[in-house]
Amino acid sequence: MADLVRYEIVDRVAIVTIDNPPVNALSPAVWDGIDVAVARAAADPNADAIVLIGAGTTFIAGADIKVFDTLKTAADSLARSANTHALLRRMEDASKPVVAAIHGNALGGGLEMAQACHFRIATADAKVGQPEVLLGIIPGAGGTQRLPRLCGAQLALEMCTDGKPVPASKAKAAGILDEVLPGRDPSTGSASSRASSRDEGVNRAELLTAAVAFAKSKAQARTMRKTRDIALSPEQIKNGIEACRAMRQTLAKTAKGARAPLAAVDAIEEGLRLGFADGSIREREIFAQSVVSTESKALRHLFFAEREVAKVPDIPKETPARDIKRAAVIGAGTMGGGITMTYANAGIPVLLKDVDDAALQRGLATIRKNYEITMSKGKMTADQLEKTLALITPTTSYDGFDRVDIVVEAVFENMDLKKQTFAELGSVTRADCILASNSSTLDIDEFARASGRPPQVLGHHFFSPANVMKLLEIVRGRETSREAIATSLKLAKKLGKVGVVVGNCFGFVANRMLAYYMREAYLLLEEGASVPQIDRVLTDFGLPVGPFGMQDIAGIDVGARIRQYLKSIGKTRAEGPQSAIPDILFEMGRYGQKTGAGWYKYDAPGGRNRTPDPLIEELADEVAFKRGITRRPIADEEIVARIMTALANEGARVLEDGFATRASDIDVVYVYGFGFPRYRGGPMFYAETVGLPTVLARVREYRARFGDYWEPAPLLERLIADGRGFYSEAVAQPLA
Ligand code: 3HC
Repeated sequence: MADLVRYEIVDRVAIVTIDNPPVNALSPAVWDGIDVAVARAAADPNADAIVLIGAGTTFIAGADIKVFDTLKTAADSLARSANTHALLRRMEDASKPVVAAIHGNALGGGLEMAQACHFRIATADAKVGQPEVLLGIIPGAGGTQRLPRLCGAQLALEMCTDGKPVPASKAKAAGILDEVLPGRDPSTGSASSRASSRDEGVNRAELLTAAVAFAKSKAQARTMRKTRDIALSPEQIKNGIEACRAMRQTLAKTAKGARAPLAAVDAIEEGLRLGFADGSIREREIFAQSVVSTESKALRHLFFAEREVAKVPDIPKETPARDIKRAAVIGAGTMGGGITMTYANAGIPVLLKDVDDAALQRGLATIRKNYEITMSKGKMTADQLEKTLALITPTTSYDGFDRVDIVVEAVFENMDLKKQTFAELGSVTRADCILASNSSTLDIDEFARASGRPPQVLGHHFFSPANVMKLLEIVRGRETSREAIATSLKLAKKLGKVGVVVGNCFGFVANRMLAYYMREAYLLLEEGASVPQIDRVLTDFGLPVGPFGMQDIAGIDVGARIRQYLKSIGKTRAEGPQSAIPDILFEMGRYGQKTGAGWYKYDAPGGRNRTPDPLIEELADEVAFKRGITRRPIADEEIVARIMTALANEGARVLEDGFATRASDIDVVYVYGFGFPRYRGGPMFYAETVGLPTVLARVREYRARFGDYWEPAPLLERLIADGRGFYSEAVAQPLA
């Protein structure tokens, strides 16, 4: 404990330093250490005031999230939070001024600790926030009660429901901070010349000096403001309650099934109505319910999954990762255009190559149109638009390819065409240039061989629209070098993507599993569910779009071409009956939104307003009749159960076959690639919440009802037999 919280006297001020790297999270020992140190300072005749400061690069990033796993019941949580609340009250009641000195972040419990101090002083680049909702919980250490008293209900509601941190300048203007040091404010980019080139150490040292002087001045003036005693006028209470009502209305549209943001509003409103003491009791109760919820477990799981995903077992942190300074993209179609925008958005100059001027001009026009839409939403200025476009150089030749650090191939999903492209790239690029394919399914090793440079070749599978979706599947070929993978992971971050390293099987992780998801959707349609019903059930489940709506956006032709290729090599995408309906639509030229018709009818080619098409029902009747199926009404629950069981069973196979490092990587793939609802934790986590024995029982039931293609994944059977789950031990392994 002595190491986690240090105590020293500087100039008659007690300095309490929280030193729990990397982010000074509040573990129980840290909470206790602070409690002991503040009590010691209060009794110390050599201390007139107290400063709380973080060691390293930050103040306190919140409660230790891992500790929440130890709270098995709401009662456990109530007992723990009673201690925390009492501790913060003791600090607030200290007989000497307590000043929080904030650099880096004051988040969650960190900001709540600062709110219970008498004063708060921060560096210009500091940020403060209540991100608890992003973990499915509400602020549980008084934040829903003290924050509205400091900054008013409106901002408190915003901070507690969207979880976004606010910069020091805004926090000062709103009353959360009392003083902000001069320096660079990253939110506005403005900087005083004095502070523009500081490193963290100097910044923190200056903060400490300023905090000591500030604390001494407060000790001399004998001023100590208790946040909990800030009185709210009847007018403020009335307006605050009205703001809660308005926020609930907004959340009804934006919360997308998440419960925690609404719970945060409840806790704030209770505080406004009941006053601090009773409001705090309600906060603890609401927090206790939220922390044991499935939503919170799922979001906490994803918090760690997202950080784990960058750790690839046989690629240590020290693996050299190159800086990508120049890039090239081949193919100016939908994917190529989106990938080009991704590079330009990250400030990386990019050559965009296509076969002729007409194709290039079409691609560039789409890129410009996309940026203009961004500009019309106020997210980009005209100047930024032109500067970003200026980073893109169209070309129909390989001129300049000898200067780029990476090429991303995004030509049609055709093996011969891609191999030909890689053969050319092998001769026109530098020996150390990374050659990445955006193939969504095909064998990366074939491209590697064609290039003559296998260590540099791998997959960079973006998701449509590539400039928006955050997932990047980094597909590891048999001979891909560790440096190429490490470089890709670093590059993914720079591009604002979440890079997940996956193995080289057909469809990799995302699309291999998606084939099973789609198989069930097609079969459910044939058995009697309708396209609008299936899509509605999946959007109610929390996905942004259902399977058929998604396919209309992606293009029915894309899947059809993949099936044709597979047929030519004697394979199918997923075990089981292959529905004829998607191929009939393809033959009819119904490719989806772009042709004005697919699974739905659209107002125009490229239009987005869709209506159900009776023709699909006719096709389903016809196909079902040929397969001897009597169509029946299908309950919504069966749709979710069949589709999610198919995903989890195939996910287990992917894991067992060694194409994903761990189950949580699969969850990250689905959350970022397909918008799987975060509050359900991903398809593997969702299966765990349903219960793996239930999932296995369903697979067996479906096998009996539908046929042997429903075969339990051996890993699933083994885990259940051993009483384990997908996460009960790290299944981290080098990829096959
Ligand atoms: N608890 C436990 N571990 C934490 C943590 C926390 N609150 N915050 C970060 N970590 C860990 C991460 O898991 C990671 O561990 P690893 O190195 O083993 O993978 C390490 O600290 C560094 O984190 P990042 O990789 O995220 O570092 P960044 O520099 O990119 O980001 C950050 C720093 C902005 C502080 C980010 O970590 C973050 O957002 N943390 C969570 C903040 C949060 O949600 N706080 C609220 C907690 S809940 C709470 O306080 C409840 C209260 O109301 C009672």
